[in-house]
Amino acid sequence: MTIDKIFVDKFVNVTSKAAIASYSLVGKKDKIAADKAAVDSMREELNKLSIHGKIVIGEGELDEAPMLYIGEELGQMNGPEFDIAVDPLEGTNFAANNLPGALCVLAVSAKNNLFNAPETYMQKISANVHENEVIDLDYSIKKNIFNLSEYLNKSPENITACLLDRPRHREIIEELKDLKVNLKLITDGDVSGALLVTDKKYGVDIFLGTGGGPEGVLAASALDAYNCTFQGRFLFKSDEEKLRAKKMGINDFAKKYNLDEIITGDSIFCATGITSGDLVKGVEINDNEYLTETLVTHKSTGLKKVIITKNLLNDKLD
Ligand code: FBP
Repeated sequence: MTIDKIFVDKFVNVTSKAAIASYSLVGKKDKIAADKAAVDSMREELNKLSIHGKIVIGEGELDEAPMLYIGEELGQMNGPEFDIAVDPLEGTNFAANNLPGALCVLAVSAKNNLFNAPETYMQKISANVHENEVIDLDYSIKKNIFNLSEYLNKSPENITACLLDRPRHREIIEELKDLKVNLKLITDGDVSGALLVTDKKYGVDIFLGTGGGPEGVLAASALDAYNCTFQGRFLFKSDEEKLRAKKMGINDFAKKYNLDEIITGDSIFCATGITSGDLVKGVEINDNEYLTETLVTHKSTGLKKVIITKNLLNDKLD
């Protein structure tokens, strides 16, 4: 089933409004309030749509998240059935501290086409390669870099790798340094990090390392539209995490997922900037309007672009 293109603007509106809602809390040192503003807005806007939507990736499960929880049904229940993955505020630290890169993110597929990801870490790898066996989670760092170097016809010194700057990545970082690869170390926001491989203008050739599983699935949905390679493998720290995963249908805890196992068929992906970052600008106020930038992809129509949306300032912020 393809998703009608009329839904593109509707979902762009959802992430744009949520970004605006969260924007009022940028720099207030309150991650929870900034996240809640985005969550509340997203839920309100999704509920207005003529869809029968179900959250497959959200703010957690019902017991820990009252809104946008996994399994929550949204919309007017009179339209197509969609799976919806959301990260209403991706980069809570960025928003709380008024730093670049806070995003409001959503991905939509037809029912049962989007992976139901548990809230665990995920090992990830992505690159703009269109052949199998160039990069792979099971290869050594060296093999991935050498293969990519051959594929891109660039020496390892001219390859840039993006990864989260975390102690858990110390070994990978040392290996990349030994190979003379350029590093782009990000402090947070690995949805954006994974998407930096999509266009040469970002100057990133490979994204790798461990980050959030839900963020991996969201990034994968956009990478699919860009025909990039992505693989992910969930990492479970406890039996409790494994039990939750089992309830979501995961039986092989060590499985490596390829893109086509994470998302199938048509999809729409929207990421609206709250604060300006690599992918999109943050919310701006111009005269009596909010301007927002959204990176949007729609797989079946080949749409991949940044859309600028205007919304009138609401009374509260005049
Ligand atoms: P939040 O927006 O939920 O704070 O997540 C930010 C983030 O950097 C994600 O992009 C990333 O997947 C995850 O945190 C990494 O987790 P950790 O900070 O535990 O390494």
